[in-house]
This record gives sequence, structure tokens and C-alpha cells, in this order.
Amino acid sequence: MSEKFAIVLAAGQGTRMKSKLYKVLHPVCGKPMVQHVVDNLVELQADEIVVIVGHGADKVKQQLGDQIEYAMQEQQLGTAHAVMQADSILGEKRGTTLVVSGDEPLISSDTLAALIRTHEQSHAAATILTRVMEDPTGYGRVIRADNGEVARIVEQKDATEDERKVREINTGTYCFDNEKLFAALKLVGNDNAQGEYYLPDVVEILGRQGERIEGFITEEITVGVNDRVALAKAEALMRERILTRHMRQGVTIIDPSSTYIETEVEIGRDTVLYPGTIIGSGTVIGEDCVIGPHTQLMNCRVGNGVEIKQSVLMNSQIDDEATVGPFAYIRPNSHIGESVKIGDFVEIKNTSLGKGSKVSHLTYLGDAEVGSGVNVGCGTVTVNYDGVNKHKTIIKDNSFIGCNANLVAPVTVGEGAYIAAGSTITRDVPDEALAIARERQTNKEDYAKKLTKKK
Ligand code: UD1
Ligand code: CA
Repeated sequence: MSEKFAIVLAAGQGTRMKSKLYKVLHPVCGKPMVQHVVDNLVELQADEIVVIVGHGADKVKQQLGDQIEYAMQEQQLGTAHAVMQADSILGEKRGTTLVVSGDEPLISSDTLAALIRTHEQSHAAATILTRVMEDPTGYGRVIRADNGEVARIVEQKDATEDERKVREINTGTYCFDNEKLFAALKLVGNDNAQGEYYLPDVVEILGRQGERIEGFITEEITVGVNDRVALAKAEALMRERILTRHMRQGVTIIDPSSTYIETEVEIGRDTVLYPGTIIGSGTVIGEDCVIGPHTQLMNCRVGNGVEIKQSVLMNSQIDDEATVGPFAYIRPNSHIGESVKIGDFVEIKNTSLGKGSKVSHLTYLGDAEVGSGVNVGCGTVTVNYDGVNKHKTIIKDNSFIGCNANLVAPVTVGEGAYIAAGSTITRDVPDEALAIARERQTNKEDYAKKLTKKK
């Protein structure tokens, strides 16, 4: 097997996106487009990956990291000019080079592998990944020679009326014999409608040299993302693929049209997702869970048999058999223990709760460490912030916090202790104690009658 190289074109500004964010960094299902592309190349085990950067080079490098190589394209003079920037890294090498576009996130590694196989079997100098489209508007058209090989590719803006009718398009993905590619690139001119050095012109140059040029038609639906309309199409297609994969692996998705799952999500078998569920990258959910309706999970670890309804959870861990919601907000760094119950209108932040504890309604717990078997009554507030610093509340095992208590941190409630309803606790409570911190009630007999007389 010959060596395999890959060049990713990612230097353009992406003017048509009308965005501050560089085009290839726009996310599709939570992951920047160029990252989708690079991840596929890594999966293919390319020997070297060179990303051509220009606009937003620092941001693109920051996103992709230092496992790959970069070549700088100072001025964006066209896709052929972009590939030329890899000359000093790859130009002299022997092997097969895949050229992919950073704005084509839907071309899967399977399709790329098939492209490489076809290319190597046919001994072509170049193989172009093409598609046949209902509406080819905007894409380069593939002009076939009489023998079925590709004669040339003509850009929409340079095409004649007849050429525009061609429905086979260039996906912007190619396989080349590396040495022939770099030799041909030196011959590409810029005499065209956009005054750019077009990579597809390499095809015609190689063809004229008597080289074999193949077109490999893929059935896979792909989208070159040049504007926000295409971005939305790419998102919808990727989303469908992700949902299908989870369903095939045993997840029930009641309404795929209202369920959003980003990349890098794992979900166990027999988990059911109700409509309006959004699951962000980095989330792992166990088996037999019921998630939703209308629930958002961002970067969370969820055990088995967990139920979460109408709630928002971020960067947190939820252990087996816990229930959350409806209408709970679990903020970062929280750990909801096994069989814990978090009920309605409860906000939890940077707080851990031990096994079987219950926070059933209308409560705020922030910067707290709650033991197991604790009952937190309705309306409890950890008063964790003094305007300057955040302080910690410790609530030990099996304690009982009465309704509407304020726990002014830093403060510790001992094991098995009771807090009387309506208390404002400012000092530590010993184990097994009852703390009452409220004004005693006085009843003024017949006082109501006096008041009515005065009137
Ligand atoms: C390109 C192809 C077209 C194909 C389409 C598929 C050319 C001339 N045309 O058109 O045949 O149908 O892709 O999606 O190649 N880039 C650089 N440096 C440059 C110019 C572009 O790095 O100087 C990068 C862009 O960031 C982008 C990619 O190359 O990621 C493709 O460029 P783009 O301008 O989007 O080309 P298209 O007009 O879509
Ligand atoms: Ca494009």
C-alpha cells in the first residue's frame, strides 16, 4: 500500500456566510465543519494531514490542535493556489493524496475510503468524487469525455448554458497521484470569471497529458456549505444520520423531527427520548432512561434508569435511578447521587447530593455538599454569596431541612439534625440537634375586632 496524504482546504473567509466566525468553524451538530472533515481523515489513518489555513488561521489551529500539519495561504487566490501551499511539505513525496474541502462536513470516511479504493484500483492520476443532483446550481459541473472519463470541470460562473444543464457536480473532494498533482498545479492559470487558480483545472491539465481521470459518483448526500441556507441543510442531514445511528443501536426516539443530538453522544439501549430533547456533545446516557419531553443535556454523564423531564442540565453527573424535574435547572459541577429526587423549580449549582436525598420543590442549592437520605423542604435556600465570596454549605446524612429555611453559608448541618421550618440558620447545627431560628409567634386575642371598630 502506498502512502496516504490528505490536504484540507480551510483558508477562505467564507464571505457568503456573512459572519464574524470563519466559515469552516461554523458548527454542524455541535462540531465545527473542519473538525468533522479532519476527524474522518484521522479515522482513515492518513499518514499526513495538512490543513491549509489563512483567514482565522489561529482560530482554526486552536480548534484542530497540533496533531496535524498546517500550511499558510496568505492570500486566497483560489483552491489550486491553496493546495500549492502544501508543496513544501508533500510536493516531493510518493503516494495518494486526498484533497478535501473544509466546508463539506457530510462526506463520510466510508465514502472517502471508497474513493481511495476506486482511485488506486483504476490507476488513475486523479479521481473526482461527484454527485448527480436535481439542482446543481452553484457547483462545478463535471464534463465527461466520450470514453466516460472526466474531461474537465467547469465552474458555474464560467459555464455555458448547455454546461449548466449538466447535473453531475464536483463535490470538491479528489484523490490524486501526489507527484502528478503537484506537477500539474504549477500549470494552472487564473484566466476565468473569478480570476482564481481553480483546483479543478488540474483535471483538464492531467487529461491533456494523457493521464486517466476518473469520476466516482457517490450516492451519499453531501452539501458544500457556502451560506447559512446550506448550513441549515447540512445540519438537518447530519442530525438525521446521528438520530438514525442511535435508533439502530436501540434508543427509542419518539419524535425524531423535534429531537436534536450533537456528535460525540452515547446513549444506552432502551432509553427513550421524548420530543423536544436536545443532547449536547460529550453527553453519555445509560440504559433504560426516560429523557424529556423538552429537556436539554449539555456535556452530562447520566447513569441507568434515570428520568429527566422538562429540565436543563449542564456539565453534571446524574447517577442511576435518579429523577430530575419537571422544571429543574442543574448547573455545572453538580453530582446528583443514586436515587436522588430533584423536583420542580429546583436549581442546583456546584453541589453534590448523596444517595436517596430529596429536594422536591422550589429550592436553590449552590456550593453545597449534601449527604445521603437528606430531605430538603420546599423553599430552602443556601445563602452562598455575600456579595464578594461564595461560601459552602454542608448538610450531613439523614438530616431534615424544614420548609423555607435559609442556610447562611459557611454553615454545617450535622448528621440527623432537624431545621425548623422558616429558620434562618447562621451557625453550625450539631448532629441530632433541632435548630429553630425564627421569632416565636404571639397571638393578640380579639385584635381584629379592635381594628374594625377604629374604621
Ligand atoms: C468548489 C469547487 C467546485 C465544487 C465545490 C464543491 C473550485 C474552484 N470549485 O467551489 O467545483 O463544486 O467546491 O463544494 O475549487 N479555499 C482556500 N483558499 C482559497 C479558496 C478556497 O483554502 O484560496 C477553501 C475554502 O475555505 C473552502 C474550499 O477551499 O473550504 C472551497 O472553496 P469555496 O470558495 O467554497 O469553493 P466553491 O465555490 O464552493
Ligand atoms: Ca464551497
